[in-house]
Amino acid sequence: MPHDPSSPVRPSGPAASVRTAVVWEVLSAALAEADPHGRGLDVVDAGGGTGGFAVPLAEAGHRVTVVDPSPDSLAALARRVAERGLEGRVAGVQGDLSELAGLVPAGSADLLLCHSVLEVVDDPADALTGVATVLRDGGRLSLLAANRDAAVLARALAGHPDEAAHALTDPTGRFGPTDGMRRRFTAAALGELVAAAGLVVEQLHGVRVVSDLVPSSVLDSEPGAAASLLALERALSSRLPFRDVATQLHLLAVRR
Ligand SMILES: C[S@@+](CC[C@H](N)C(=O)[O-])C[C@H]1O[C@@H](n2cnc3c(N)ncnc32)[C@H](O)[C@@H]1O
Repeated sequence: MPHDPSSPVRPSGPAASVRTAVVWEVLSAALAEADPHGRGLDVVDAGGGTGGFAVPLAEAGHRVTVVDPSPDSLAALARRVAERGLEGRVAGVQGDLSELAGLVPAGSADLLLCHSVLEVVDDPADALTGVATVLRDGGRLSLLAANRDAAVLARALAGHPDEAAHALTDPTGRFGPTDGMRRRFTAAALGELVAAAGLVVEQLHGVRVVSDLVPSSVLDSEPGAAASLLALERALSSRLPFRDVATQLHLLAVRR
């Protein structure tokens, strides 16, 4: 059933999580604007994995194609889709972000999610060029990527100033050889990459500004702390300087 356009897409699971609440809020507003009559949009989730975003979007009435190289993730996605009776609304395609333009028709997507994937591809600039070709005119990119400056702060706070300094100057934003992340970005670098792909940045938010710095034992021991943290994250997500030290940066960009 198409979603009620007056009611923003706020699936209870993702929205309740401090990891995804800000992204869902941005997407929710963008979807409502792009689909005011609730007919459903064509969405591509590149690196969509097991469907954490794809499934709620399909439940909200959109048609979602998940492109992911992992057969295990796609199998888990297919099970989830079947369990929820969403067959026909979610298609899984095995493939790499760098091959996107060959896997999804050009100019076919109203919304393309690229969440936590740009960090792992060989050539982020090339990948974003492919992303842009898949979007329709007026279509939007939701880009979520790891923030270099958050890693600098986190390594310093963890008592590793040398690693913090390394992340600050390393071209890939890694803190050293033991870093599990292949690449991080600054807000400025992400903006430049998106612009170079021919897209116009509309919004930039910080995701997990403080939540990764708070020990979970503190949150568990204080009643109401999790809800307060979520409210704080919302307040900080668009406010400088907090936005730019969030663990992840979320950009919404449009193809014009
Ligand atoms: C951290 S998970 C993120 C999943 C989902 N986008 C989300 O935000 O919940 C990274 C996903 O990217 C996929 N992936 C890894 N390398 C990729 C590549 N080169 N192109 C596209 N997806 C890739 C993985 O299989 C995995 O599903």
